[in-house]
Amino acid sequence: MKILAALIITSAFLGTATAFVASQIRRPIASATATALDATIAVFGASGLTAQECVYQALRDGDKVVGLTRNPSKLVVPKGSGGKDADKPLVDSNLILIGGDVTNPADVAKVFENDIDGVIVALGGKTSDVGDTMLTVGTKNVMSAMKARGVKRIAVVTSIGAGDSKDQAPFAFKLLMMTVMKKIFTDKNNQEKAVQESGLEYCIVRPGGLTVDPPTGVINVIDGEAGSIPRADVAQFCLEAVKDANFPYVGMTPCISSVGGTSWVKDRSKAARGQA
Ligand SMILES: NC(=O)c1ccc[n+]([C@@H]2O[C@H](COP(=O)([O-])OP(=O)(O)OC[C@H]3O[C@@H](n4cnc5c(N)ncnc54)[C@H](OP(=O)(O)O)[C@@H]3O)[C@@H](O)[C@H]2O)c1
Repeated sequence: MKILAALIITSAFLGTATAFVASQIRRPIASATATALDATIAVFGASGLTAQECVYQALRDGDKVVGLTRNPSKLVVPKGSGGKDADKPLVDSNLILIGGDVTNPADVAKVFENDIDGVIVALGGKTSDVGDTMLTVGTKNVMSAMKARGVKRIAVVTSIGAGDSKDQAPFAFKLLMMTVMKKIFTDKNNQEKAVQESGLEYCIVRPGGLTVDPPTGVINVIDGEAGSIPRADVAQFCLEAVKDANFPYVGMTPCISSVGGTSWVKDRSKAARGQA
């Protein structure tokens, strides 16, 4: 996997939350390593609001993207990071967009006809539209294809409240999880279990309530109850998860929110990279 290998991470614990400073995560092209510039990221659910951010930010940062979605025409420049270009069609010579269904292994295989370095799964939707098992079946298809092609790193967006984070969901959200969102959460829990048992280098990203606001620049990893977070910040975290060789949440299930304390900062200074 072509990844950022020379980044050094500093951490310190000040409370129940840890934080990325996303403004430091964005790499000026001039100072990025060659491997960072030519990473190819696969994004599943590419037209989704979080996935759009992943696609847009990866392209902006000089990477290539291969996206899969059932409705490619839905992919537009995201509101959060897109500024005045928001909602315009997202086209880029470094973007390959494939129309297909993640539950169909043949469609997933088309993505891996390209040389993929890292994978982001940001699938979603109501079960009445996508079915009761789309997340689990689709993610399993993706992971099988990854193993067949020797791709190791995957970030999967699930949700606060999934798996063992049930008590990190706000009370009102817990009620939804037990009622109208019950099927979705059964699928999310099964999806998470499959990822955790995959043997891949995974990061299960559990965001709090998602917004389409501009990135806050700070991404907190929360031990307690999580608040909201812009999709733009979630995307930044996912991209780091698949590109940074030393990403600290590999094999973990961080709950992230832009609301909370600050105690964990990724140092991207030259000194932190061992440069003068
Ligand atoms: N809303 C919240 O506050 C919140 C909070 C925490 C976590 N989450 C979770 O975060 C994730 C991302 O949420 P979001 O709102 O950004 O997503 P979203 O806008 O609902 O996008 C999900 C994407 O998945 C794609 N998709 C669905 N079925 C597919 C299939 N069979 N094959 C290929 N693509 C498929 C859809 O594209 P097509 O229709 O074009 O296929 C859609 O664009 C979801 O899992 C969501 O449950 C949401």
